[in-house]
Amino acid sequence: MSFDLQLDGRRALVTGGTKGVGAAVVDVLRDAGATVLAVARSIPDASPPGVHYLAADLSTAAGCAAVAQYVLGPFGGVDIVVDVLGGSSAPSGGFAVLDDDEWFRELNWNLMPAVRLDRALLPSMIARGSGVIVHVTSIQHALPLPESTTAYAAAKAALSTYSKSLSKEVTPKGIRVVRVSPGWVETEAAVAMAERLARQAGTDYEGGKRIIMTSLGGIPLGRPAKPKEVADLIAFLVSPRAACITGTEYVIDGGTVPTA
Ligand SMILES: NC(=O)c1ccc[n+]([C@@H]2O[C@H](COP(=O)([O-])OP(=O)(O)OC[C@H]3O[C@@H](n4cnc5c(N)ncnc54)[C@H](OP(=O)(O)O)[C@@H]3O)[C@@H](O)[C@H]2O)c1
Repeated sequence: MSFDLQLDGRRALVTGGTKGVGAAVVDVLRDAGATVLAVARSIPDASPPGVHYLAADLSTAAGCAAVAQYVLGPFGGVDIVVDVLGGSSAPSGGFAVLDDDEWFRELNWNLMPAVRLDRALLPSMIARGSGVIVHVTSIQHALPLPESTTAYAAAKAALSTYSKSLSKEVTPKGIRVVRVSPGWVETEAAVAMAERLARQAGTDYEGGKRIIMTSLGGIPLGRPAKPKEVADLIAFLVSPRAACITGTEYVIDGGTVPTA
């Protein structure tokens, strides 16, 4: 028996859609029949059928406005928004090295793109009385690592609270809003980091992975999630199969968060 996600003909916007989790979300939604607009600062020269790429810097208000304009204009509107964009470039060293510039960089990367895009796109969804928004946060909103990710974790916590509040406001108008919180995901960047740690410690790739897992307090499953596993969860959540799901958080972390 097949499990049809019923996404044929749906239009989806995926931010951060060229690498890691975002690229996997683009692939899964396209394979399920959606037409996908993937946004990143640098984009491939060619698009596979069903995928459109748009280059924009979503850490700026102007970049978000340009994407919203494209979505509501040439792209023809949107049914699904998956806000995958996020990350951290803050240095290690705890609170003392986080000056205002570092704080605003993390907020403009992890919170404001979702806030700005939702604000621009929601009126059209509300007018239609349907739509779904997924905010990709992180288990770090509940499990921060103070040495280097205080600002990132706080920005993800702000995104989580914003997402919950938004769901209470717009769900009665037909829009579902859901959070997905990954633990460690084995993206290209994560592989590079494990390889770098392995070289520094004189061990192999599996040894590098163990160093990262130990820094997280261990992963009971014994491995990071694959980007496709996170994307499969998101594809289900944006589909009509999940029509009763809104205002909740889905953690996908192999058991990393030690509490319920
Ligand atoms: N990886 C993990 O272990 C992990 C764990 C928990 C949560 N998460 C969350 O999951 C999400 C995806 O993470 P990931 O590791 O899969 O990401 P990633 O592999 O680093 O990919 C980031 C994507 O975002 C784009 N991007 C970066 N800055 C941008 C900007 N200013 N404007 C537009 N696009 C931009 C990148 O393309 P360009 O560079 O060309 O712009 C790329 O497509 C993030 O929200 C992250 O916080 C990840």
